[in-house]
Parts: sequence; structure tokens; C-alpha cells
Amino acid sequence: MKLDENQKICILGCGGFIGSHLVERLLSETTAEVMGFDLATNKIAHLVKNPRFTFISGDMYESDALEDAIHDADILVSLTAICNPALYNTLPLDVIDANFTRPLAVAELCSEYHTRLIHFSTSEVYGKTPAGITGTPADDTPLNEESSHLILGGVSKQRWTYACAKQLMERVIFALGREEGLAYTIIRPFNFIGARMDYLPSLEGGGVPRVLACFMDALLTGTPLELVDGGKNKRVFTSIHDAIDALMAVIEHPEESKRKIFNIGNPANELSIRELAEMMFNLYETVAGEPPSPNTVMVDVSAQEFYGEGYDDSDRRIPDISAATACLGWKPRLDLQTTLQDAMSGLIREYRVRKSSRV
Ligand code: UGA
Repeated sequence: MKLDENQKICILGCGGFIGSHLVERLLSETTAEVMGFDLATNKIAHLVKNPRFTFISGDMYESDALEDAIHDADILVSLTAICNPALYNTLPLDVIDANFTRPLAVAELCSEYHTRLIHFSTSEVYGKTPAGITGTPADDTPLNEESSHLILGGVSKQRWTYACAKQLMERVIFALGREEGLAYTIIRPFNFIGARMDYLPSLEGGGVPRVLACFMDALLTGTPLELVDGGKNKRVFTSIHDAIDALMAVIEHPEESKRKIFNIGNPANELSIRELAEMMFNLYETVAGEPPSPNTVMVDVSAQEFYGEGYDDSDRRIPDISAATACLGWKPRLDLQTTLQDAMSGLIREYRVRKSSRV
């Protein structure tokens, strides 16, 4: 079912990485009315003048317009989150607020007003693998939405504050579906990457974004690639374009995706963080048009040194995507090299535009 001009879709967090790509796609491929809330506009500056897009800037949770928007919308996409691991053990109360308390109010309003909710959770709800805890060799069993266990560390390991808040939010939404008939879909993203992701610390004056932006910043500024705990942990990296295809399929298949949880990720794109550093280093000259600096070497750093007290990590997370394929007909298309090149080019473009506008 294609969205048409009679339908309204509201996006909380439309100015972020995923939100900006989703708004772009909704405006170019559907005729629906799109409304969005966010604090920031820099990633959607090219979209805000579109007559089909109503943008409300500022703190949505303090805005009187939020309840009316949820009431009037056919679909509410909830993307707001603090999803940066460097903040989980440094700002845990803000992490709980952003990932549980605030989205809770939104889910309750969706339930009250019978608005379809598409909620972004995280692949991090799976936590560690059993092999990651026991130190036995990793197994290749993909993580399944129904049958996999959710394995988090102890309370003092504040890394898991985020996953726990996200998991509780999933449980509330599930219960609202069962008890109050809320029509929802929960998405568990597996490391989406692409243009407009995170931020580059050298431009923003510091901070620790997620790994892709950390490594891009190092390559662009000729500084070392820091491998936390030797870069031994593994991730799958998923193109934002495949991710938005999946999201559009969810939006356009309301019945097939009703009260479902979907892993969205590319199981074929797995590599260790050390391998990621090597691959980005090797691709840099092709995408940047110049070789990396001789100062961009790989250095090992302990998690304690890099993130501080309370950090812990997922060792491995390969998604089982059979539910999304069966219900939505979706499969990722873009391989690791294409995905990385596209993401790196996007970040290099943004870096060069920002740098030249400062001169
Ligand atoms: C994060 C979020 O916690 C998830 O919610 C989110 O779903 C996920 O990103 C995502 O993008 O989908 P994580 O994969 O741990 O999870 O985030 P990164 O900060 O990108 O870290 C990936 C790995 O790289 C970790 O092992 C980290 O220790 C390592 N890392 C990070 C480095 O070795 N060097 C760095 O400079 C940065």
C-alpha cells in the first residue's frame, strides 16, 4: 500500500541521521503529508522548504503541538534516542530519560489515539552472546527476534543502561499491543551507516561518536585509529539505503508488520572492528582522492581508557532477517565495500563543505 496525500506521517527525530534519510525518501517517493519534530535542522536544511513537509523545531516533549500531531497522524515514527555508547556510562540518567521515559509518553498517546507506531529500538537489546560471556569460540547462530535470549551485564556495567531502557520500552509497547490494541512495529537496527551519520569530533570540538565517525575523523585529520580492546568485537554494517528500503516496506505493509519486531541489518556485512579500520584505511585514497597520513596508524586502547568506568561491549551480533524477508519481502542489497564507500564519501563531503565554509 503506497502512502498517498490523504495520509499523514509524523517523525519524531526527523533531523537525525535516519530521520533525514527517511524524510527525503517519503517526500520523493510518496505523496503523503510529512510532519517532523527535532532540535536540529542542519541535516534536513535541504528539505524544510518542501511544501509537503511541516517541520517543528525545538524540544518536542515540551511542545503543545506533539499531542495534536500524534492525534492527527496515521503513522508515528519514533526515532528520538541517545544512541551513542560514550554516553551510556557517563550520562546514564539522560540515557534512561531519552530512551525510555520520553518515548513511553509517546507510545501511550499512540495507544490512546489509535495511531500506528513504528518504534526504533536497537540491536543492542541482544547484549552479549553466550560465547562472549564464557569466552568459548563464537558461534555463528544469528540473533532471532523470538528465540534469542537478551543477555546484559550487571548494573554497575552502565553500558547496558541503554539496552535495558530500550528493552523495557519494547516490553511496554508489546503490552500496549496486547492489552490496548496498539498497532505497532518495532525495528532493531544493526549498525546503519551512511552520509549524515553522527558528527566529526574535529569539527564539533570533541566528543566520541560511533566507530565509523571516529575512524573517519582520524583519517581526515591524520591521527591514529584507536582500537578498543584490540578491535576484537564484531559488527555487521548496514547501508542506510537498505535500511530506508526496509522502513518504507514496513510503512507500506501495515498488516504484515502489525505487532511485529524486525531485525534490520545485513548479515553478510560482518567484520571485526580491527578489520573495519583496515578496510577504511585501504579505501581512503579511492574515496578521498589522497592517501591517508603516515600518522594514521592503528593503536590499541583499553575500554577503560577510551570510555571510562562502566563500559562493556557486545562481542558479536549477526541478525536473523528471515522475519523481515518473509513479511515484507525485504533483503539488504549493498555489500560491505559499497556500503563503506558510500558512508565514507558522505562524511568526507560534509567535512570538506564545513571546512571550506569556515575559511
Ligand atoms: C551503538 C549503539 O549502542 C546501538 O544502539 C546502535 O544500534 C548501534 O551503535 C548502531 O549503530 O546500530 P555499537 O555498535 O557498540 O552500538 O557502537 P560503536 O560506538 O559504533 O562501537 C562499535 C565497536 O567499535 C565497539 O566495539 C567499540 O568499542 C569500538 N570502537 C569504537 C573502537 O574500537 N574505536 C573507536 O574509536 C570507537
